[in-house]
Amino acid sequence: MTKTSAKDFYHLFSQETKDRKVSPLKTFIKYFGDPNMVFLGGGLPLSDYFPWDNIKVDIPVPPFTKGIGQPINKNATEITTLDLYKEKKVADGDIPLARSLQYGHSQGQPELLKFIREHTEIIHTMQYDDWELLVTAGNTSAWESTLRIFCNRGDTILAEAHSFSSSLSAAQAQGIITFPVPIDDKGIIPEKLAAIMDNWNPETPKPKLLYTIPTGQNPTGSSLDAERKSQVYKIAQKHDFLIVEDEPYYFLQMEDYVKDPSLRKEVKLSHDEFLASLDQTFLSIDTDGRVIRMDSFSKVLAPGSRLGWITCSNQIMKAYLALYEMSMQAAAGFTQSIVSATLSKWGQHGYLDWLLGLRHEYTLKRDNAIDACYKYIPQTDAFHINPPVAGMFFTITFDGAKHPEFTTKFKSDPLLLESYLYEKAVESGVIIAPGSWFITDGETIPPQPKESKESNNPNSVFFRGTFAAVAADKLNESLKRFGQVLHDEFKV
Ligand SMILES: Cc1ncc(COP(=O)(O)O)c(C=O)c1O
Repeated sequence: MTKTSAKDFYHLFSQETKDRKVSPLKTFIKYFGDPNMVFLGGGLPLSDYFPWDNIKVDIPVPPFTKGIGQPINKNATEITTLDLYKEKKVADGDIPLARSLQYGHSQGQPELLKFIREHTEIIHTMQYDDWELLVTAGNTSAWESTLRIFCNRGDTILAEAHSFSSSLSAAQAQGIITFPVPIDDKGIIPEKLAAIMDNWNPETPKPKLLYTIPTGQNPTGSSLDAERKSQVYKIAQKHDFLIVEDEPYYFLQMEDYVKDPSLRKEVKLSHDEFLASLDQTFLSIDTDGRVIRMDSFSKVLAPGSRLGWITCSNQIMKAYLALYEMSMQAAAGFTQSIVSATLSKWGQHGYLDWLLGLRHEYTLKRDNAIDACYKYIPQTDAFHINPPVAGMFFTITFDGAKHPEFTTKFKSDPLLLESYLYEKAVESGVIIAPGSWFITDGETIPPQPKESKESNNPNSVFFRGTFAAVAADKLNESLKRFGQVLHDEFKV
């Protein structure tokens, strides 16, 4: 079936993007590698002067039968050594260092792009034909570029009512208003988003984009299901905004939490079952080319690899490319060489084995954290645990009004109570992040109707913990201490 092309979104570009001209020095990149060309054009150092002739990297090999978290036995068949050379390729996916460490290929090295393209076709169902990829230095940087590409100072964007604070700060620092969209345990509430947009004050320009973390949301740990995604997408079409899905946790989707440990089964998924289990993405329902997806290797390989990619329409990708050519130029060459050689050695199947290994590890970690929450956090109606099905975070939510001194000592202010409990937790030796650190706080001038920001329970308070970073015994101990603080304070 022939697919249609993405729509034109030039009208949503920022003034900066509209003004940006492609650097003439970048136009001769297409002649790179042509043996008939004598290259006097650019300030490229000769690769003879690069001091790295060969890099050796030891990596584990699929199918990772002993799991992915164990120390690797160097003498066994569990490991292989990749040889990355300056000039030659040992395997197809290798990127010779002479090329990866040179200027050029701002979109990403072809071998890495090829692997990611195949991976994208396995994971998503692309609905239009002119989609493109761009290798990035991870989602933090990709998001910062996205803001510059679409927003002018004073523009408004939408974001989940609690969202990743660094992403909100990046927007606010650019003079962009971050307007909150109400959420519940399952993420964005489509009806509330529709109400905000349908009643948008016509005296202020409509938001240009929605920033969302659909899977394992940071900080709430929620995941947006296919039904809600489809509703949100239709609202985006109706009100003509773009959806930016920031998905570093997409492959940290887990088995559902089963409260009774004796009923838990070890699940071994085949590749097909694994793929079928993954949430449908915004990208997969995007017929217009209005979704920009940001993926990252940070949570699945290593944060310091500083590598990720954007998937979007060709038109939008060109705007990123023009910005990259004048800012970071390209993702780091060492990283691209090492990651590309690793992934191509593993192959698409081997990479799925790796992701399955992560699923197993994170399911165990999540189970341990939620078990400890149920054991140590007061189990009354005032307290709520939402076992996450993806990501690294869990939340402990409670009704602040149930604190015996809520109206007196805390003057009915949930934020005062929250900061007091935070200090108490620190005194007991636990750092757990207060929910208010993640509040999406922004308002247009003139403001939107006040109903747009109404919350179901204005006295609700939550704390965010992570099960990713600590060993099981430490996590148990910390929740025991925090649980004690809550028991003492709430007198339960
Ligand atoms: C929602 C979200 N986006 C982006 C990032 C950072 O991703 P990267 O390491 O790819 O920059 C994080 C991680 O901390 C995150 O939680």
